[in-house]
Amino acid sequence: MPRPFPRTRLGMFRGAWIAAEVVLLGLLIGSTGALAAIRDRWDLMNRTPESRGAQVYQVSCAGCHGGPAGGTITDQPPKHNANGHTWQHADCELMQMIRDSTTVSVSSRHPLASAMPAFRGRLDDDDIRDVVAYIRTMWTDDQRASQRQLTRERCAG
Ligand code: HEC
Repeated sequence: MPRPFPRTRLGMFRGAWIAAEVVLLGLLIGSTGALAAIRDRWDLMNRTPESRGAQVYQVSCAGCHGGPAGGTITDQPPKHNANGHTWQHADCELMQMIRDSTTVSVSSRHPLASAMPAFRGRLDDDDIRDVVAYIRTMWTDDQRASQRQLTRERCAG
C-alpha cells in the first residue's frame, strides 16, 4: 500500500534547509559578541601609526592647518602638506613644536613664542609621533627623503 503522502526529494531538501537556517540563526545570535570582539581585534591589528595619527590630526590639527591638498608656502597657520614648509623641519623640532608650542628658529635653535596651542598634557609622545607619521604622508617622496636627512643631522638617537 503506497504511503498517502510520500516524502519527496523536495520535502527532504526543504527540511534540511530549515534546519540549517535555525542553526545559522542560533550561531548568529550567539556569536554577535564574539564577532564584535574579532572585529575590534582586527581593527587594532590593522591600525598603523599613520592611521592613528590621521585620527588625532582630524580632531586636533586640521581646523588650523588644513588637509592634504591646497594652500601655499606663505599660509598662516602653515599648511602641513607638500605646499607648506613643515617638511623642512626635523622630527625632533616638529615634536617639540607640537608638544610645547615653541617654534625652533633654524639658525639659533632658540625657542620662540608661538600662536599655536601646546599639546603637552593633551597628547602623549606616542600620539605626537603618530601625528608626525601622518603629516609625512602628505609630502612628496623628495620632501620625505630630505626631511629624513634633516632628522638624521639634527635629532639625537
Ligand atoms: C588654533 C590653531 C592651531 C591648532 C589647533 C594647531 N596649530 Fe600648529 N600652528 C598654528 C600656528 C598659528 C602656527 C605657526 C607658528 C606660530 O605662529 O608660532 C603653527 C605651527 C605649527 C608647526 C610648525 C610650523 C610648520 O612648519 O609646520 C607644526 C609642526 C604644527 N603647528 C603642528 C600642529 C599639530 C600637529 C597640531 C595638532 C596636534 C596643531 N599644529 C594644531 C596654529 C595651530
